[in-house]
Amino acid sequence: MRILVTGAAGYLAGFIVDLLAAEHELTLTDHVALPEDRRGHAFIQADITDYDAVAAACAGHDAVVHTVALVRERFDKPPTLFADVMVKGTWNVAEACARHGVKRLVNISSVVAIGSPEDRSRPYRVGDAQRFNEGDLFYCLAKHLGEEIGRAYHQAHGLSVVHIRPGIIAGDGLNREPVAPEDPNRPWFMHVLPVDVAGAVRGALESDVEYGAYHAVTARRDGVYDFSETQRDLGHTANHNWPGIPEGEVNP
Ligand SMILES: NC(=O)c1ccc[n+]([C@@H]2O[C@H](COP(=O)([O-])OP(=O)(O)OC[C@H]3O[C@@H](n4cnc5c(N)ncnc54)[C@H](O)[C@@H]3O)[C@@H](O)[C@H]2O)c1
Repeated sequence: MRILVTGAAGYLAGFIVDLLAAEHELTLTDHVALPEDRRGHAFIQADITDYDAVAAACAGHDAVVHTVALVRERFDKPPTLFADVMVKGTWNVAEACARHGVKRLVNISSVVAIGSPEDRSRPYRVGDAQRFNEGDLFYCLAKHLGEEIGRAYHQAHGLSVVHIRPGIIAGDGLNREPVAPEDPNRPWFMHVLPVDVAGAVRGALESDVEYGAYHAVTARRDGVYDFSETQRDLGHTANHNWPGIPEGEVNP
């Protein structure tokens, strides 16, 4: 496949590019220059908020993996910036895919696209009850709206859209390593390695799912987010599950 990766200078994108490069022809796009390890690929420097630039980048590709978001730099930013970069940016990508014959959009979302699970006694499944909280609301809501844009374009244009919802990505320079709680028999584990998120992306590109949202999390019984649907539909199970941290006994 010819695949465009947005946010290609970013942390997660590096692992996605590494995994996909052997089997696919990649074009990378970002508004900043690429790190040296990615400079062998075709590159289009573009701002995701610029529709014409995004449309030109998407043209000629079979699939787009969309990773752009406000991540590490997000905490003191106003809601309008989230609306621009994450909502308008995702809308630009979906519109460009629909107009330029791209068949599949893999949208990197987040487990927080639902806010938080209401029932924390068992692993959360996509579609279970959820609610938004004050904490990090702009980011969570922007992720949620990004998924809604994908749903609308799937319904209106038949664009195949798979949302990948990573848990806390380890090693990103912001997140701390997981630490077991006092009561490990309730779901608590949220971390995932970026290479396992990349594996879920590859599963999404290769699957026959036309529309869906899937967690990219560890395959642990004590995970806050269920992994079985990702395993079933995308054929991906995390390879790294922090064996040094004993798993709690959580009811399915
Ligand atoms: N890091 C985590 O723990 C975590 C957890 C869940 C989901 N995610 C999601 O994974 C994705 C990648 O996250 P990351 O940790 O690699 O972040 P990152 O900040 O390293 O990567 C984001 C990339 O987007 C680019 N970008 C930002 N604004 C842009 C714009 N206006 N136009 C074009 N490019 C722009 C940045 O230059 C950067 O290279 C994001 O969608 C993020 O929300 C991350």
